[in-house]
Amino acid sequence: MELKIVGGDLAKAKTPCLILGVYDKHKLSAPAQAVDRATDGAIAKLLRKGDLDGGKGWLMTYDMPGIVAERLLLLGLGKRKECDRGTLAKALGKAFARLGEARVPQALLALPEGLDDYAGVRAAALKATAAAYRYEQTKAPKDDAPVLLKRLDLWVDKPRRDAAERALTHADAIGHGVALARELGNLPGNICTPTYLAERAMGLAGEYDALTTDILDEDAMAELSMGALLSVSRGSRQPAKLIVMRYNGAADQDKPVVLVGKGLTFDAGGISIKPAADMDEMKYDMAGGASVFGAVLAAVRMRLPINLIGVVPASENLPDGEANKPGDVVTSMSGQTIEILNTDAEGRLILCDALSYVERFEPAVVLDMATLTGACIIALGKHPSGLFTADDKLAKEVADAGEAADDKVWRMPLWEDYQQQLDSNFADMANIGGREAGAVTAACFLSRFTKAYPWAHLDIAGTAWVSGKEKGATGRPVPLLSEFLIRRSGVKTGE
Ligand code: BES
Ligand code: MN
Ligand code: ZN
Repeated sequence: MELKIVGGDLAKAKTPCLILGVYDKHKLSAPAQAVDRATDGAIAKLLRKGDLDGGKGWLMTYDMPGIVAERLLLLGLGKRKECDRGTLAKALGKAFARLGEARVPQALLALPEGLDDYAGVRAAALKATAAAYRYEQTKAPKDDAPVLLKRLDLWVDKPRRDAAERALTHADAIGHGVALARELGNLPGNICTPTYLAERAMGLAGEYDALTTDILDEDAMAELSMGALLSVSRGSRQPAKLIVMRYNGAADQDKPVVLVGKGLTFDAGGISIKPAADMDEMKYDMAGGASVFGAVLAAVRMRLPINLIGVVPASENLPDGEANKPGDVVTSMSGQTIEILNTDAEGRLILCDALSYVERFEPAVVLDMATLTGACIIALGKHPSGLFTADDKLAKEVADAGEAADDKVWRMPLWEDYQQQLDSNFADMANIGGREAGAVTAACFLSRFTKAYPWAHLDIAGTAWVSGKEKGATGRPVPLLSEFLIRRSGVKTGE
């Protein structure tokens, strides 16, 4: 995907397709007005026919007099006053889909007035990177399939070039991160195994000098007494891996941001087996881990001045003669014992040992991402990820990053009141807390392993995947994590 900032006379721009924004009631955006003058009012005349009066949708025209572009795509942006980068991004999604069907892999977008050069350019460019991705590893596209977007030029009025260029660099990096997270989430469990994830991490380290990778195998984990994590992988033929990716972009003494992601490459539930319907979707139970890969890749490509460590505990969860059984008690790396009342609550078992492990890095902050509970989807639906932390300041920092990256979270309680639901007669805690507030008790469980550093947990069960006809991984919350890292690193963005 090629992204470029351009200026100059839009009417004279040579492009297969010029995209101009229009508002409701046939009002033209500022760049559209300029082009309209070159066409002698042909655009305004066309719009007066009323097709785009609702302000939504698009109109493709050809052979427009007075302009060089082969096609003109008029893009409805709704009411002028309400048009923000979210409106633009949503409308662009439809425009890029239309271009794909028309087999046009390249376009020139005139950024409408009133949008911030950094935020507007970044949102538009990131949308373009999404139109450049399609899952193809086990399914070749048919001959008549839509073409993917290969190049987007962005025209910015009197650009503050540095801000716009930075936005492109960041969008390109985040776009690569999102695409990587989507690809890993889409890959089937028989290909994307813990070993495969480990190999991909090694591959990244080979590709980027600033990145190093360590893979801990089951022996190394046994050495560290990771009894909770190893109890999950014992029921699988695939050996567990603990993947550690390190990016050093700042001074050695700078404490690192640590990202921990659940890398459960297939979750059948174990002995507490899941129902058959839609069980295929549990290949995305490694989406938290995939988001760590994506955020690390984005940070490296942005060359952020920050120290970052990504940790992915990777395992399968299957029923087997050696698998965990309800009632089993395991000892975690922290020394705390856990009674496994439901083997399907396995995410917290692999995460708790990873969260104890990262203490050694003396983190500035730890964020963990996990497709942890169906209960989080029941509570919040599929729009925001669930955010859990006892730290108000960190909660705001994460929520603000999500807002700015159009990758929202909603804060859930993490009060002491809920902790008693994890009481067990036979261990320090049970791994489930009953029917009530399942997403909260899962977070409460993790909180018992995160006392040594500032910590927040994101439950992404509802946001990392879309079901139905368009089934597939979304790449969330890579945009949020990238924004969080950009802000922590203190690099310039807009101003
Ligand atoms: N990976 C699942 C959670 C999940 C469910 C993610 C649906 C995405 C969509 C997790 O391992 C799990 O099975 N959780 C159980 C916990 C329960 C046993 C306390 C759940 O949510 O049912
Ligand atoms: Mn499970
Ligand atoms: Zn799971």
